[in-house]
Amino acid sequence: MTATHTHPAHPSLPGLQPQAQAVTVPVVEQVQLARDTWRLRLACPEIAARVTPGQFFMVREPGTTEPLLGRPFALYDTWLDATGQPAGVDIVYLVVGKMTRVMTGWRTGDPVELWGPLGNGFPVPPVKNLLLVAGGIGNTPFLAVGREAVGGRAYGDPGRTLSARPERLRFVYGARSRDYLAGLDDFAAAGVDVQVATDDGSAGHKGFVTDLARATLAEWQADSPTAPGTPDTAIYCCGPEPMMHAVAQLAEQTGVRCWLSLETPMACGFGACFSCVTKVHLPDGGWDYRRTCVEGPIFPAHELCWE
Ligand SMILES: Cc1cc2nc3c(=O)[nH]c(=O)nc-3n(C[C@H](O)[C@H](O)[C@H](O)COP(=O)(O)OP(=O)(O)OC[C@H]3O[C@@H](n4cnc5c(N)ncnc54)[C@H](O)[C@@H]3O)c2cc1C
Ligand code: FES
Repeated sequence: MTATHTHPAHPSLPGLQPQAQAVTVPVVEQVQLARDTWRLRLACPEIAARVTPGQFFMVREPGTTEPLLGRPFALYDTWLDATGQPAGVDIVYLVVGKMTRVMTGWRTGDPVELWGPLGNGFPVPPVKNLLLVAGGIGNTPFLAVGREAVGGRAYGDPGRTLSARPERLRFVYGARSRDYLAGLDDFAAAGVDVQVATDDGSAGHKGFVTDLARATLAEWQADSPTAPGTPDTAIYCCGPEPMMHAVAQLAEQTGVRCWLSLETPMACGFGACFSCVTKVHLPDGGWDYRRTCVEGPIFPAHELCWE
């Protein structure tokens, strides 16, 4: 669910992302958060005023064809100027290939092409109990989700409001090892309760983040008979596909509503190329494709076809 946007698109992207702008903006700073993981701060007040948690941007280096295509990155958070107004956006990226290696060379003042905000974003949390589940760099959408849920910031234009704050909010976050855990200080500063899991046990629970998710749902169920299994609880999840599949199964078993943020590779980001399609179930029992860039990247877990 995205907020209603009153700004005209300027200059607009073709097709189905009417709220998006294509702009060239300066780098404000670049800070290393964890192993191979960087936070890029960009100055773009108009985009920052519109974006909502779970939306994303296409990012490109201007004046080059290497790489030719932009790459999608989620909103990590907005940042505010001295008067408290949105001044720009932060993205956090893991270095995996050509573009993310180029990005590590960007310095303060360098120009960056930014298209956004794109995609649907997460719904306003509709629940009393909200569990955020991330694997690896899938943690990036959840700082803004968490900050909004604790009442720390209103996102979108007009700023969207929660009818009620979740009474219980927890972020469970899994990574390969301690040195890949990114942004824990940011989550703590935002007031989000975080539990971590690592594959090698170097921080937190040794094992899968889904263990923490399952334990949280059981804890909430024990605390309150109206917790999991009722519409009062929801999971928002982002990470590697096998992990998201496991979380979708957990949600189905416990009767908890679940939304997943897909990280499907994308070429255009605005609905034109169909490189990002995912298969969804239709109400008549059949299936069809949906473009992750415009109809997603957030989908209700039960709508997705797992193969
Ligand atoms: C909506 C959305 C939001 C995203 N948000 C973030 C974010 O906040 N931070 C972040 O670090 N990354 C994020 N990603 C993933 C990011 O787009 C890719 O890591 C990036 O495109 C890699 O570009 P590259 O040129 O460095 O790698 P490439 O040279 O293009 O690829 C390097 C390797 O990574 C693989 N790869 C590339 N893209 C993906 C992908 N999407 N999923 C799985 N494997 C991939 C390639 O197959 C190849 O093996 C997001 C993706 C989507 C769709
Ligand atoms: S990336 Fe081109 S249609 Fe989605």
